[in-house]
Amino acid sequence: MVNNLKNINKKTIQDININKKRILLRTDYNVPLDTNGNISDDIRIRESLPTLQYLIENECKIYICSHLGRPNGKIIKKLSLKPVCKRLSELLNKPINLLNMHNEITDTDTDTINMLENVRFNKEEEENNPNFARKLSNIADIFVNDAFGTAHRAHASTTGVTKFIPSVAGLLFSKEIKILNSLLDKPEKPFTAIIGGAKVSDKIGVLDNLINIAQNIIIGGGMAYTFIKAEKLILKNIDIADNEIKHAKYLIEKSKELNITINLPKDVIVTKEFQENAKFRNVASNNIKTNELIMDIGDESILKFKDILNNSKTILWNGPMGVFEWKNFSNGTYQLANHLSNLKNVTTVIGGGSTAEVFGKLNLENYISHISTGGGATLEFLEGKILPGYASLLNN
Ligand code: 3PG
Repeated sequence: MVNNLKNINKKTIQDININKKRILLRTDYNVPLDTNGNISDDIRIRESLPTLQYLIENECKIYICSHLGRPNGKIIKKLSLKPVCKRLSELLNKPINLLNMHNEITDTDTDTINMLENVRFNKEEEENNPNFARKLSNIADIFVNDAFGTAHRAHASTTGVTKFIPSVAGLLFSKEIKILNSLLDKPEKPFTAIIGGAKVSDKIGVLDNLINIAQNIIIGGGMAYTFIKAEKLILKNIDIADNEIKHAKYLIEKSKELNITINLPKDVIVTKEFQENAKFRNVASNNIKTNELIMDIGDESILKFKDILNNSKTILWNGPMGVFEWKNFSNGTYQLANHLSNLKNVTTVIGGGSTAEVFGKLNLENYISHISTGGGATLEFLEGKILPGYASLLNN
């Protein structure tokens, strides 16, 4: 098992004196926007509130810094933090100044909160340019990193600034690390990991790590096809060239050695085209035709997976069971989400990204132990990788 972070304890805002200090607060306000430019899910903004409240109570002067999207060093109007600034101002019930980073930052009223315009409008941000990082750090006495979702990026505003001013974790960041760490380090058994999504290649690192920790792994989504093929090939003892299938085959074999169970869907919903209104059929997994795509898990699989969840004490879910964005293929994901939300005496953790979106859509966020605000960062953490945004903070 790889978990490089487990013994590293970082300082948080509660471990140092921040009273009346100037704070550069890195948040991850990379929120989804709809076609009209409105925020479609504000969980990342809401989850940053405890840190902000704490800083406000300590009479800090706050400079919030975040990215939104991938403007690649250019000013792109629709990626302005304006809507984020507005939403945060509503939630805090306080005015917030949106500052243009291209001007020098000047002192503002003590009781106003400031937000720097999208930090990725500056090409120096992703280059982790030290001069730019110094310029950012000059605004403040202390750097607080609360952008767990960006912890896997070594950029000027995540790691660069830590070279110039004392740097600590915010309350969201430390909460994420604590909860995700507890999954990798002695989770209550049986521990079940539900892993879905379109491609096995995105989840190989996570599966490689979790296979050493979980007692059950449930596989769903388009990537189940790779495992179903791999299992058939194992039965026929055929050697294969395809790397993804090869890896799935290796994981199935390893799970047998470790005496853990990889649960594949018994039946699935398939189509011939990847289209919202494509004709679909429910078929036993061993009868999928070569020209068919898995769009969801079937009824038998749902029942089987629910049963496994009923007998679990810790559950981690990363990656949907199908193309839940399209009504015809949302059943498996939605049924498992509802089921998870009704379980009692079990720790349930949602590993960010589109799985988190499902719980937001169904208004089930309050029935889950923890919904991670990270996407890529959560995956890298679960793979056991070091997150530069965390590693660069002061040790406790
Ligand atoms: C995310 O949404 O995963 C983070 O905000 C990081 O965004 P990025 O993948 O564009 O660096």
